[in-house]
Amino acid sequence: IDTAVAAARRALPEWSSAPGHVRARFLYAIARQVQKQHRLLSVIETIDNGKPIRETRDIDVPLVARHFYHHAGWAQLFDTEFAGYGPVGVCGQVIPWNFPILMLAWKIAPALAAGNTVVIKPAEYTSLSALAFAAILEEVALPPGVVNIVTGDGRTGSAIVNHPDVDKVAFTGSTGVGRIIRSETAGTAKKLTLELGGKSPFIVFEDADLDSAVEGVVDAIWFNQGQVCCAGSRLLVQESIAEGFYEKLRARMEKLRVGNPLDKAVDMGAIVAEVQLKTITELTEAGKAEGQIWQPSWAIPEEGWFYPPTLFTGVSPAATIAQEEIFGPVLVSMTFRSPEEAIKLGNNTRYGLAASVWSQDIDTALEVGRRIKAGAVWVNCTNQFDANAGFGGYRESGYGREGGREGMFAYVKRKATGSAAPSSVGGGFTASGASQVRPAESESASAIGTRISIDRTAKMYIGGKQARPDGGYSLDVLGPMAKVGQVGWGNRKDIRNAVEAANKACGWQWENGHTKAQILYYIAENLEQRSGEFAARIAAMTGAPVTETIKEVADSIEQWFRWAAWADKHDGAVHETTLHGLVLALNEPVGVAGVICPDEQPLLALTGMIAPLIATGNTVVVIPSESAPLAATDLYQVFETSDLPAGVVNIVTGLREEIVSTLAEHDDVDLIWTAAGDLRQIHEGSAGNMKRVWQIPPMDWSKPYIGDDEFLREATHVKNIWLPHGV
Ligand code: NAI
Repeated sequence: IDTAVAAARRALPEWSSAPGHVRARFLYAIARQVQKQHRLLSVIETIDNGKPIRETRDIDVPLVARHFYHHAGWAQLFDTEFAGYGPVGVCGQVIPWNFPILMLAWKIAPALAAGNTVVIKPAEYTSLSALAFAAILEEVALPPGVVNIVTGDGRTGSAIVNHPDVDKVAFTGSTGVGRIIRSETAGTAKKLTLELGGKSPFIVFEDADLDSAVEGVVDAIWFNQGQVCCAGSRLLVQESIAEGFYEKLRARMEKLRVGNPLDKAVDMGAIVAEVQLKTITELTEAGKAEGQIWQPSWAIPEEGWFYPPTLFTGVSPAATIAQEEIFGPVLVSMTFRSPEEAIKLGNNTRYGLAASVWSQDIDTALEVGRRIKAGAVWVNCTNQFDANAGFGGYRESGYGREGGREGMFAYVKRKATGSAAPSSVGGGFTASGASQVRPAESESASAIGTRISIDRTAKMYIGGKQARPDGGYSLDVLGPMAKVGQVGWGNRKDIRNAVEAANKACGWQWENGHTKAQILYYIAENLEQRSGEFAARIAAMTGAPVTETIKEVADSIEQWFRWAAWADKHDGAVHETTLHGLVLALNEPVGVAGVICPDEQPLLALTGMIAPLIATGNTVVVIPSESAPLAATDLYQVFETSDLPAGVVNIVTGLREEIVSTLAEHDDVDLIWTAAGDLRQIHEGSAGNMKRVWQIPPMDWSKPYIGDDEFLREATHVKNIWLPHGV
C-alpha cells in the first residue's frame, strides 16, 4: 500500500493538470476496451463470484462501460461544470465482492474524471476482474500510477484507510466495517464516502399490477442471489391481497432455476463464499422461530455453495430477520392495511438505501415514494441503476452518492482562495472562548457597571419555548469591560430535549418553499427592527467597536434574505438515464441537524449556519458561540414574532466541550455542521448512526468563500425516484 500510495502521489500533478479532454480520452478508451472484452470480463466475473452469466453479461459489464462513457463526459466538461473545484488528491478505495467490477467502475471513473489518482483494493473473494481490468489500463496506456490495484483482505483495506497520504476514502461494504472506517478517519481531513448495507422495503399495494410485482420481487431479492446492498429484502403486502400474492409468488419460486452460473438458463447462481453461505443459513434457521418459512420443492445442487430462494411470511416488524441484513436469497414478508402503515413499516429500519413501491395509482405511488427515507425509490420497478443517477443511502446506509453530477462532488474539493478567518476583534474574545465564560459566582457580580444597561439572564430555546437549563445553573457572559448577562448552563438532558423537539418539528420539511421563504424574510425584517439592540449587545460581549457590530447585524439580515431566496430555488433535476420514463432527483433535507457555532461573529456565523439548514427543510439544534451566546438567545424573540414553527430552531447554551459529544452521538440527529469543537470527538460520536459531518473551516462570514451551492448540498441529500411509464 505504501508503494501504491507513493505511485499515486507521484502521478497526481500530471494527471490532475491534464486538460479535461485528455482525461476524457482515456476514460473513453477504457469504456471501449470494456465493451470489446465484454465476454471475457463476464465469464471471469461469473467464475469468480458465482453470479449468473446472464447478469454479468447483461447487467454488470454493460453498466461498467456505461459508467466510463458517462464519466468521460464529466472529464470533458470538468472545467466548466465544476468551475472553482479541483480533485481531492489520492483516493483510497475499498470495494466488496457482490459487484466486483461494477463497484470498481463506480469508484474509479468519477475519481479519474475529476483528476484524482487512485489506490483500490478489490474484495478478497473476488479479485480477478480487477486484475483483468488492470490489463485494460495497460492496453489504453493510462499513465503509470494513476490507478493502482492492490489485492488483499481487510488488513490491506485498513492500510489504505489509515495511510496518512490518502486524501479521500471511499468504501462500499458492511455497515460494521463502515463504522470502523468512520472511527479510524475521525479527526482527519480525509474526505469520506460510505455506501453500506440496507433492508430495503418492497411495498405492494392492492391496486398494483400483481404479475409485474411478482417479477419485481424476483429481481429485487433473487438477483445476484440476494447479495445486493439495495435488495428488496422486506416485502410489505397490503393485507387485502396478501394471500393471493403469496400464492403467485410461491408458484413463481417453484419455477426458478438454481445451478451452474455459467449456464445461460439459470436464474440463480452460487453464494460467493462458504462463510457467507454459513451466515445465510444461520440467520434463516434462527428465523424459523420468527415466521413461516417456505422454500420450493426442488433440491439445490449438492456440490457448490448454493442456497434456495426462501420466503418468510407472518414476520413481525421487530423480528431479527426483519431488521438484520441477511445478504442472501431470503425474503421476509409482512402485511399492512393503509398507506400510512406502509410508510411507517417501510421506514422502520436503521437503513435507508432504497425502496420499491408498486401501485397503479399515481397518488399512492408518489406520496409513499416521497415519504420513504431512502436514496433511491423505484416505482413499479426495482434495482434500476444508471451512471447518471446518483446511488447512495440515508441513515445507516451511509453517505455520499455515486453516479451523475451528485456523485462527482464526492471526488472534488473547492480550490483554495485565500480568505482568512476574522481576527479576534477588540479584547472581547479569543478562539478559546471558554476563558471568557465562567460559572456565576454571585449575584453581586451583576452589579458591576456595564457599558450597556441591560444585564440579561437569557434562557435557552427549546420546542418553541424558553427553557430553563435542566441543571438549574447559569454561566456569566463576560465582556471585556463587564459582565453582560447570564445564560443557561446546558447539559446532556437539555441537548436531548432539544433533539426531541427538533424531531417533533420534522413536518417543517413538507412546508412549501414559498412559505419557508416568507418566514425567513420575516425573520430578517424582525431582526432589522431590533438591530441597534443586537449590535450593542454583541459589542458589549466582544468588545468590538459598534461600527463593526452594526455591520455584523446588517450582514446577518442579508444572510437571512439570501437563504430566504434559496428556499424555493434549490431545484432537483430530471435525470437523463437509460430508463424509459422519468428519474426525478429531489433534494431532500437530511433531517435533524446539530450546529456547533464558532465563537467569532456570534450572530453572523450562527445565521450563516442555521439559515441554509432551515431554508432547505431541516430542523436544528444549535450550540451558539460560547463566549458571546446572547446574540443567539435573543433571537428567540425574533423567531417567535416571525411564525417560525416551534422546534425548527432550538438553542442550547453552555460549555461546548461538555455537550458536543451528546449532540454528535445522538441517534436522532442526522447531520452535524461544526465550525468549532473537537473534530475527532464529533467524528467518533457520529459513527453510531453514521450521521454526516461537515466541518466548516474558519472564515470571515461576511465574505464566505464557500459557495451557496456547497451549503445547499451539505444541507440536503438526493433521492432519486424512478418512474417508468408506458401504455
Ligand atoms: P466487508 O464489509 O467486511 O468487506 C467489504 C470490503 O472491505 C472488502 O474489500 C474487505 O476486504 C474490506 N475490509 C474488511 N475489513 C476492513 C477494514 N477493517 N478496513 C478496511 N477494509 C476492510 O463485508 P464482508 O465481510 O465481505 O461481508 C459481510 C457482510 O457485509 C455481508 O453479509 C453483508 O451483509 C455486508 N455487505 C454489504 C455490502 C454492500 O454492498 N452493502 C457488500 C458486501 C458485504
